Amino acid sequence: MRILVTGANGMLGIDLCNVLSDAGHIVTRTDINVRPGLETAAWVPLDITDAMAVQTAVESCKAEAVIHPAAFTNVDGCEKDPDTAFRINALGTWCVAAACAKLQIPITYISTDFVFDGTKTTPYTEFDPVNPINHYGASKLAGERIVERLCYRHFIVRTQWLNGAYGRSFASIMLDLAKTRTEWEVVGDQIGSPTFTLDLARTITALQSSSLYGTYHVANRGECSWHTFATTILQMSGIKGITLHPIPASQWPSPTRRPAYSTLRRYSLELQGRDDLRPWQEALEEFLKHRTDISGPG
Ligand SMILES: NC(=O)c1ccc[n+]([C@@H]2O[C@H](COP(=O)([O-])OP(=O)(O)OC[C@H]3O[C@@H](n4cnc5c(N)ncnc54)[C@H](OP(=O)(O)O)[C@@H]3O)[C@@H](O)[C@H]2O)c1
Repeated sequence: MRILVTGANGMLGIDLCNVLSDAGHIVTRTDINVRPGLETAAWVPLDITDAMAVQTAVESCKAEAVIHPAAFTNVDGCEKDPDTAFRINALGTWCVAAACAKLQIPITYISTDFVFDGTKTTPYTEFDPVNPINHYGASKLAGERIVERLCYRHFIVRTQWLNGAYGRSFASIMLDLAKTRTEWEVVGDQIGSPTFTLDLARTITALQSSSLYGTYHVANRGECSWHTFATTILQMSGIKGITLHPIPASQWPSPTRRPAYSTLRRYSLELQGRDDLRPWQEALEEFLKHRTDISGPG
């Protein structure tokens, strides 16, 4: 299939385009910028908030599907500047969805666990009510609504706690801190599922051949706190002599409220008998190995 990908130079975007190409798809990689120092395959500049440019890009590569991870992903940045959050995450998605609707091609929109308020104590399914508690979540939910209304053939893929080789993920931040410090604080009372971008990319790629359109939760299996996740990252990397102090989220210096509990249950995949996501610990092991195999910034 000919597939146009937005945000192709992002953490998920790079892995996704590579997995799609490996699966035999013809991929047009688009993004607004390239991250300095990151070597990627050829890509086309595209600002998703420019409706005409999006339409032209989708038409000129004769895309048969669009996958749309481009977003303003800085959660605190969205909180401080909600208009930019809505301009990129809602208006940008509107432009992408409108192009797909006009050409009658399917769209896959990447969304987030932050559409939920975090008051549940068991994993969220795709059928649970949404109620975002910050501007990032609200702007991503606005994108979901637009995609649902404009594009009958859509996949909305909600994911969480991403770690990838090509980006500044939580794991790479912990490993960088370990180079210069022997103790620091990590939030211990927020629970979710760390997710490896390659596993997510594989599932998104597999979905492209499905006709069961709708909303999907895609995250690695199991759940933990950020503190447990950080501890596991250091252990698996063989780093000793570091003390991680668990603190409540209320003590973390951030302007943004985050859901206390946001584990995603892959219920749509489960119901279809195709939930093959592995435990986050196994995925983390591969991520740490992969990370040392490549020369990305981590
Ligand atoms: N990271 C997570 O833990 C997480 C969790 C849940 C859901 N998600 C969702 O997963 C998707 C991918 O996340 P990610 O972490 O890979 O994000 P990322 O690394 O920030 O990638 C997003 C890409 O979109 C680009 N972009 C921003 N504004 C754009 C515009 N106006 N036009 C075109 N491209 C634009 C960014 O460019 P610049 O970097 O130059 O701005 C970046 O290359 C996002 O939709 C995000 O909401 C992520």
